Amino acid sequence: MKMGLIKKIIATTLVGVMTLSFVGCGSKEEKNDLESIKEKGKVVVGMSADYAPYEFHAMIDGKDKVVGFDVDLANEIAKDMGVELEIKEMEFDPLIGALKAGQIDMIISGMNPDEKRKKQIDFSDIYYEAKHGVLVKQENLDKFKTVDDLTGKKIGAQLGSTQQEIAEKTVKDADVQLLANVNNLILELKTDKVEALITEEPVAKMAIKTNPELALSEITFEDSAGGNAVGMRKGQTDLVNQVNKTIQRLKDSGELDQFIVDANELAAQNQSN
Ligand code: ARG
Repeated sequence: MKMGLIKKIIATTLVGVMTLSFVGCGSKEEKNDLESIKEKGKVVVGMSADYAPYEFHAMIDGKDKVVGFDVDLANEIAKDMGVELEIKEMEFDPLIGALKAGQIDMIISGMNPDEKRKKQIDFSDIYYEAKHGVLVKQENLDKFKTVDDLTGKKIGAQLGSTQQEIAEKTVKDADVQLLANVNNLILELKTDKVEALITEEPVAKMAIKTNPELALSEITFEDSAGGNAVGMRKGQTDLVNQVNKTIQRLKDSGELDQFIVDANELAAQNQSN
């Protein structure tokens, strides 16, 4: 009788402990990124600041700063959440890993929400649309008119980018040269280590403004992912909705368009390549 009661107590306690730890696990997994960003009063945004006019370094009042329309968007997202913005610069390729590992809260880096990436992370609505362009040396402009002209050529692309995929899959037999930093790729093109460089078209256009020996070829590649979006950890519906609200607000007010105009002007004045 007594033993029975003790057993009962032990069993009940065990069930209680198990339930508690189960609930504990559940709530940990469903950690709400929007809430924790608000709690810490800061959102950490990862980007690769080698992509004018999206994000790039510029001297503002004698100080080296990361600027661009992605930075403006990041600022507005932080403002709408009522938190500080911290920009964490890193190479483009490791951005998704850093997000998944919790080193950053979101990616704003001209990223295309393609199917492969969507398996790993979630994306906001599209905030900007662009084609992919092909940069060449001005003196070689006549040699590059169609995609076939790129066949078998040395082509530069950023490591881990959509352009890497285009160079490897859409161009035939290309000798693809991958570098982590787009500014170094522009240097490779200028010094004839590659014959063509694929980037988003606005980036290619900016590069020719600051590097008159370069030119934009007629070759373009459509963007199959539909544009650029903000990357966030999987399953964070509240945060995605919050970010989408900011994007919509900036689209409706015309501010997003203005950010793009401003970033292009700033990049044209400031870039020192
Ligand atoms: N849009 C391309 C992609 O999603 C390239 C973006 C590169 N961004 C940068 N900040 N370098 O892969």
